[in-house]
Amino acid sequence: LEPGDVIFLSGELGAGKTTFVQGLAEGLGVPGEVTSPTFTLLQEYLGGKLPLFHFDAYRIEHPEELLDVGLEEYLQRGGVVVVEWAERLKWFAPEEHLEVSVIIRPDDSREFLFRPHGMRYEALLRQWEANGC
Ligand SMILES: Nc1ncnc2c1ncn2[C@@H]1O[C@H](COP(=O)(O)OP(=O)(O)OP(=O)(O)O)[C@@H](O)[C@H]1O
Ligand SMILES: [Mg+2]
Repeated sequence: LEPGDVIFLSGELGAGKTTFVQGLAEGLGVPGEVTSPTFTLLQEYLGGKLPLFHFDAYRIEHPEELLDVGLEEYLQRGGVVVVEWAERLKWFAPEEHLEVSVIIRPDDSREFLFRPHGMRYEALLRQWEANGC
């Protein structure tokens, strides 16, 4: 990931969104534990290769509430922005972002769908594919 990257995560309750963010944090070398920001809307994790800004839209009633805590400013801060329950923010998605949907399969395993929006994320997915992901 690069500074300014944006990942919008969707998936039902307990799909594995926070677990996915924990993996991102580990990959970025973020020290300490990454928890769900459900009650705070936003957790900032510094100390890794890039700052990680973790938003959770589960408890919001209106998408504007995330704008109130500064979602748009965080997009400019040179970190990685990741949003859980992003399906609630559909109309506020930046033009370029990576959409990740987590689906619970009948055997309780998970399926991840990656949908790139914009050239940056198309390139990123091609790079992952080339790396065997
Ligand atoms: N890739 C995975 N494969 C199997 N089980 C998983 C996977 N990811 C998460 N889980 C399990 O699913 C449960 C919920 O995970 P998690 O809290 O990450 O989901 P969530 O989508 O963030 O939930 P919420 O909707 O409450 O935010 C946990 O018990 C976790 O162990
Ligand atoms: Mg969660």
